[in-house]
Amino acid sequence: MGSQVHGTQHFDQAKRAEIKFSDAAMATVQEMITRYPAGKQKSALLPVLHIAQAEFGGWLSPETMDYVASVLHIKPIEVFEVASFYSMYNLKPVGKCTFEVCQTSSCWLNGAEDIVRYIEKKLNIKVGETTKDGMFTLKVAECLGSCGTAPMLQCGASFHENLTFEKVDNLIEKYKNENRLKSYTDLDYQNTL
Ligand code: FES
Repeated sequence: MGSQVHGTQHFDQAKRAEIKFSDAAMATVQEMITRYPAGKQKSALLPVLHIAQAEFGGWLSPETMDYVASVLHIKPIEVFEVASFYSMYNLKPVGKCTFEVCQTSSCWLNGAEDIVRYIEKKLNIKVGETTKDGMFTLKVAECLGSCGTAPMLQCGASFHENLTFEKVDNLIEKYKNENRLKSYTDLDYQNTL
């Protein structure tokens, strides 16, 4: 099948054709678009990308970004520019649970580095990597606004605070058992975006 250049990547038209929002997600997207003046639908791009990421496996493939562009009637490069700027958007596949460990001052002073090393050892991955079973990805993040309960990490829409090694063990077990994609839209779209 033919392919096109999308940013620095190539995408496949056949894969692009398979990508389509569920009815519920599309209804939310359309409602978001109506919040902005006619012709300013690009303003809904950030929340629409969150929905897309939650709908299509936790990451934004070139095909997904192209689809979002078509829904919002904007250019694919406009979507790519935004998606590649913010760390909450994943441009490569991730695990069902992405642990984002805050590494900024308060968390760092309270042992964030030890938490990161502990998770690395426990999951046998390094920062930026995903476990072989596709369950966990480990990332570090800048201040997530929960400095008073440092050290902390975010997984989807959930904050996990005052971390200890024992809490990390429990979290890993909990998410393994849930065995589902955790996203920023885990609460309902209207209230969280
Ligand atoms: S420094 Fe970690 S949440 Fe602010």
